[in-house]
This record gives sequence, C-alpha cells and structure tokens, in this order.
Amino acid sequence: MFSGKKILIGISGSIAAYKTILLVRRLVKAGAEVKLVMTPAAKEFVSPLVLETLSKNKVYTGLAEGAEWANHVMLGRWADVMVMAPLSCNTLAKMAHGICDNLLLAVYLSATCPVILAPAMDEDMWKHPATQNNLKTLAAYGNKLIPVNNGELASGLYGDGRMAEPEEIVLFLEENIFRKDILKGKKAVVTAGPTYEAIDPVRFIGNHSSGKMGFAIAEDLYRQGADVTIVTGPVQIQTRYKGIDVIRVQSAKQMFHICESKLAIADICVMAAAVADYTPVSPATQKIKKQEGGLTIELEQTNDILRFAGANKKAGQFLAGFALETEHEKENAIKKLKSKNADCIILNSLRNSQAGFGVDTNEVTILDRWGGETLISLADKKEVAAQIVSYIISKMNA
Ligand code: CTP
Repeated sequence: MFSGKKILIGISGSIAAYKTILLVRRLVKAGAEVKLVMTPAAKEFVSPLVLETLSKNKVYTGLAEGAEWANHVMLGRWADVMVMAPLSCNTLAKMAHGICDNLLLAVYLSATCPVILAPAMDEDMWKHPATQNNLKTLAAYGNKLIPVNNGELASGLYGDGRMAEPEEIVLFLEENIFRKDILKGKKAVVTAGPTYEAIDPVRFIGNHSSGKMGFAIAEDLYRQGADVTIVTGPVQIQTRYKGIDVIRVQSAKQMFHICESKLAIADICVMAAAVADYTPVSPATQKIKKQEGGLTIELEQTNDILRFAGANKKAGQFLAGFALETEHEKENAIKKLKSKNADCIILNSLRNSQAGFGVDTNEVTILDRWGGETLISLADKKEVAAQIVSYIISKMNA
C-alpha cells in the first residue's frame, strides 16, 4: 500500500518527536519514500542524523543551508501527503494564521497535497479555546486531524494531548489517504471463523478455524475501496481498520440470519467461514452431568449460507466459497461450485502442512464457473488474500 508513495513529514518542537523516528522506520520498511522537514526547535528533541539515516534522505531544517537553498515549493509539490508529526501548539497556531517564519511553515503553505495533523501538547494547551479555534481553522482549510490520545504527558500529568502512536498514524494514512477506489461503491460481505454449536451452557461443537483467511480477504477488499462487513464466528483476531463493520456471532443459525439480510445488498460475497454442518437439536439448558455409559447427542443440519447465497444470487453479484477436501479434492470442489451456484470455489490445499487452519500461510486453487483453474502458491495469508481479491476484481471487470 505504501510502495512508492511519497510522504513528507514535518516535525516541530515536542517530546513526541521520538515517536516520529519509529514512524519513519515503519513507513520506509513498508516501501514509502520519506522526506523530512524540521523546525529549528525540533532539532532540540531529535537528531537530524537519525532521521537522515532512517529515511535515507537529506533532512531539511532551514531555508538556506550553506550555499544551498531548500526549495520549499518543490518539496510541497513532491509529496503525495504531508504529515505534521508531532505538531506543536506553536506551529499549529502559526499554520492556522499563515505565518511563515521557518522552512516547515513555508513548505506547509506551498503544499498542494493533503495535510495530516498529529498534534502533541499538554492537556491545558490542547483544551485552550485558542488551540481549538486554530484546529477548526485548519479543518476548514481541509487539513485532516489524527486525534490526540489520553495518557501520561511530558509534564507528568495525565490527560489529552499525547501524539497518536506511529501505528495509528500508519493506519490513518492507509484508511484515509492511500485506500484505492477500484471497488469504491461496492459492498462486500465476508464470513469468517468457526461457529460454535451449543451442546449445553458450557460445551459446544466447534472447529479450529482462526478466521485469518476471511479477515485478510475482508481487509484487502477494504483496501481496494469496498464497503466491507465481516460476519465472524468466535475468533481472537480483530481487523486493523476502523471502517470495516465486524459482526460477531456464535452459531451457524446466527450467522445465517445476519447473512440473509446482508447478502441481499452485497456486490461481493466471500464465504470463508468454517460453518458447522450440524447442530444439536435441543441444547440442554443446564450443564449435562456425567452418567453411566455413553452419551448420544442428536444433531440436525444447519442452513448452508453459501447455498442460500447461490440460490438467491442477484445479477452482477460475485459469489465465492471455500472448500477443504481430504479426497478427490478438485472433483468435490467442482461439485460444490455447481451445486451451490457459486462463481468460484477456493480450494484449500491439505497436502501442504504450511497451508490451512491455524497457520499464517496458505496455498489455494481457485476453480471457477468458467472452467478456470488459478493456483495461488504458498504465501502469507495476507498475500494469498490480495491475490484472491485481484482475481475477484478481474472476474468482475471481465
Ligand atoms: N458453508 C456455508 N454454510 C454452511 C456450510 C458451509 O456457508 N452451513 C460454506 C463454507 O463457508 C464454504 C463452503 O460452504 O464456503 C464449503 O464448505 P464445506 O464445509 O467445505 O462444504 P460442505 O458443503 O459443508 O460439504 P462437506 O462438509 O460435506 O464437504
């Protein structure tokens, strides 16, 4: 997502400047090209040498250094986005009033790209009406604010005013600046994780699905611009994006009911959940006590969500299912493709111990209704998800 992106970071005088070192490292590792401009006060808090080394670029601190003039106009125009992190109370106030008494302010005033603000200051300064009014002015100029955090401040007091953490700034950029619009306006529903079918109040029938594959697909659909809902069974993981709607359920029945309404308005449906095929007919209302002999639990079939989606597929909707087969893999997957009226079945490989449940990697073959067969070789689930999503986009645009 950051590969080849040009990010200009402005640092002003604040203790939080130490976090910018980590931000630069994180962005450079993700493939971004990072340039930095510092106010004279910022040099008291963090060394330009550290930032130059990490960014692999010259750090600009003054309008004229030696015989060289720093071209503030070109710096502002070079960037895809400018991030003011940390943004001190003083620099924030100057930006709001168009003051231009250092290089960073000159670059800000000549920047034509989006500008993101990550303020850092003490709580009393943050809450002062002057600062709040300055923020309103900057918002009216189109600058976007990453809210401050609450916690321990440089003064030793606790309150609002901590600069957002580097990872929060990275996420903000992902969601608000670099999200693509290939799937803009499209709605996607992804099921993920296992389902738990209650036997009694403390026991259930479940499976080992971690939800990682479904979440990775949902996140990639979101990165491509889709509005995404994940309907997930009980899993430990969270999505990294605030904009993804996560609906958590327990049982196959609950998952079916949520999907029933969501599928009707979805453009893309990916059924990645390992939904239980059977559920106890009458779960005990009290814990089942151990008795002599064995125990028989009567099970009934659950609703098949993928089959329901296939039977009610609307024009232009893309429907993907998954399959995990232990024998006659392709033959069985193709049977599922046809009987459930899916557009494709993503067949998990069981031959590779590094693929499938509980591991971070996967290897799949996509079998589709047009007779196509696409192999996605062993890779991190996020990479596999990205390839599945680009396959879906190619079929939707075909
Ligand atoms: N699926 C579903 N609802 C169910 C059962 C399965 O939506 N109640 C979906 C899964 O999310 C997956 C696909 O159907 O996308 C195939 O699931 P799988 O368990 O492999 O197939 P089944 O149809 O249940 O057949 P079997 O277990 O006999 O292989």
